[in-house]
Amino acid sequence: MMTAASPIAARIAALQASISPEAQRELDEKFAKEKARADAQRCADLRRAAGILDRFAAVRFLDLDRDDDNSAAIDAAAAVIDSGFTLGLGLRGGVGVGKTTICCAVANAALDAGISAKFCSVAGLMDTLNSASRFSSQDDVSDLIAEYARVRVLVLDDLGREPLTRRTLPWLYELLNQRWLNRRPILLPTNYTFEALTARYVDAAQRANEDVSLAEAIVDRLSELAPLPWIPMQGRSRRGA
Ligand SMILES: Nc1ncnc2c1ncn2[C@@H]1O[C@H](COP(=O)(O)OP(=O)(O)OP(=O)(O)O)[C@@H](O)[C@H]1O
Ligand SMILES: [Mg+2]
Repeated sequence: MMTAASPIAARIAALQASISPEAQRELDEKFAKEKARADAQRCADLRRAAGILDRFAAVRFLDLDRDDDNSAAIDAAAAVIDSGFTLGLGLRGGVGVGKTTICCAVANAALDAGISAKFCSVAGLMDTLNSASRFSSQDDVSDLIAEYARVRVLVLDDLGREPLTRRTLPWLYELLNQRWLNRRPILLPTNYTFEALTARYVDAAQRANEDVSLAEAIVDRLSELAPLPWIPMQGRSRRGA
């Protein structure tokens, strides 16, 4: 049975027939440019909302420079992506060797795949929690910790550089414990070895008159969330290279 074309479809068909091939090409190009611009904007918005700072928001995993100093770290990061972001990753090394860059490239890949991700410096997160506890309420502190505990991919940057106090140690434990309970690993770029971090937390617990078992609980969870051994990254700083 023949169906009559709708008036709108008929008008579109007539319009298309009246457009020259060059005009059509121009329209297609304009449309493709507009779509690329909108996609890039959406990507940038997602990364900003995830806390990924400008410098790392544009990093694409496939564009990372690779050499002898970082190939083991890049391979381990690729394994995280291949696992569907179910594996954790610990990268340790001196300043500027590219630890944060690689972890952010993984977080960006997750966001591109529609998987939730967040980036924070641990010192910055502790600062935010301090403000929340001082100016808001314990509920706000718990909500914030829960937000970071739930997200699928979490970069905890520069663990070990945060101030360690009676307040921050239990918050850190709470975050790591909730992620461990939820089977959500972490991506961990750090300047410290596991042993140095352990000593740091044990010492902080003693100075804060906290039970040393709190420090042990923190590092024990860490060893599973970012499985040992953490990958050592060598070489000179890539800053300014
Ligand atoms: N694989 C890479 N490809 C291209 N650029 C890189 C790569 N790794 C690092 N860089 C560049 O080197 C600089 C330092 O990298 P990054 O901040 O990741 O180092 P880091 O190891 O986290 O240092 P820090 O311990 O001081 O935090 C950045 O400007 C980054 O853009
Ligand atoms: Mg870094």
